[in-house]
Amino acid sequence: MNTYKANNESILRASEIIKSGGLVAFPTETVYGLGADGLNPIAVAKIFEAKKRPAFNPLILHIADKSWLKKLSSFENEKVEQLINKFWPGPLTLVLPKTELVPDIVTSGNPTVAVRMPNHPVALQLIEMSGRPIAAPSANKFGHLSPTEAAHVAKYLGDKVDMILDGGKCSVGVESTIVQLHNDEFYLLRHGGLSKEDIEKVIGEIKIGVADENKPNSPGQLPFHYSPHTPLKFFNEKFLDEDKKIGVLFFKENKYKFPFADARVLSASGNLREAAANLFSFLHDLEKQNLDLILVETIEEKGLGQAIMDRLRKATKQHE
Ligand code: TXA
Ligand code: MG
Repeated sequence: MNTYKANNESILRASEIIKSGGLVAFPTETVYGLGADGLNPIAVAKIFEAKKRPAFNPLILHIADKSWLKKLSSFENEKVEQLINKFWPGPLTLVLPKTELVPDIVTSGNPTVAVRMPNHPVALQLIEMSGRPIAAPSANKFGHLSPTEAAHVAKYLGDKVDMILDGGKCSVGVESTIVQLHNDEFYLLRHGGLSKEDIEKVIGEIKIGVADENKPNSPGQLPFHYSPHTPLKFFNEKFLDEDKKIGVLFFKENKYKFPFADARVLSASGNLREAAANLFSFLHDLEKQNLDLILVETIEEKGLGQAIMDRLRKATKQHE
């Protein structure tokens, strides 16, 4: 069993696991989270692997100190300060423009990042001792209900996490409310533990976004979806035209003599976790270069390969 009652000793041990790139399930006031070092792309890839989710979904970064918000996101809006002062720590997640510090896999390539400060002493102590934000989705396997007790986590993810911190039952029991700031307006992306009315008492009327938990990661879920501008296609030799500036993402190796403008290898050892950790940032790097075309090699749809291929299929579809 890797479930431990949360106390100073077990939380310290859990923070060491986080710092060394492992996975820790921990209690928050809403639901249990499946946590990893939010600044370590490989650790974050392990979350998707454990959840067995066939698609990537942007994750919430959990912080214990308000000053971290300024390091993770850049915005100028007084109402954000008002919300934080009133509701943090608590079940309110804010989606704001991200900074460079946030790895692309955390946001699934989106230019925005979700941040919250949970109102639970165990979560706060764990984050503080880890010394970094903790990326965490709800600690359930894909398609299952969000866990509100350590035993729920143990049942579905026990063998996938390095440690489960048992902090008793979650007091709120539903996920956090998610609000996005976009062009100085606020949008409700997900109803949750804090009511829309309570938020509106502080900052005035907010719009309803299009969050739909039943269609995870559908572009419609994010009202302001990031869409790459360079055409992206699955690799085929017929696209190799020397008059074009072509960037390419290979899975394990580049076997071609073709003069690519930029050729990247997702994981030379064929490790899917490493490939997932590199995917979004490599795509971004290629995007920035004003190429005529980006080609990506297909990979086997096993484990994290499913989520990678799902992402790539969506990206290629945008240019059909
Ligand atoms: O209460 C909670 O929020 C729990 C605890 C563990 O903190 N966490 C949670 O995480 O529910 P998760 O991953 O199950 O749900 C997070 C939601 C997802 O629907 C995701 O799409 C959305 O937040 N989200 C994350 N980053 C986003 C972003 N940059 N833009 C829009 N939506 C985002
Ligand atoms: Mg969830």
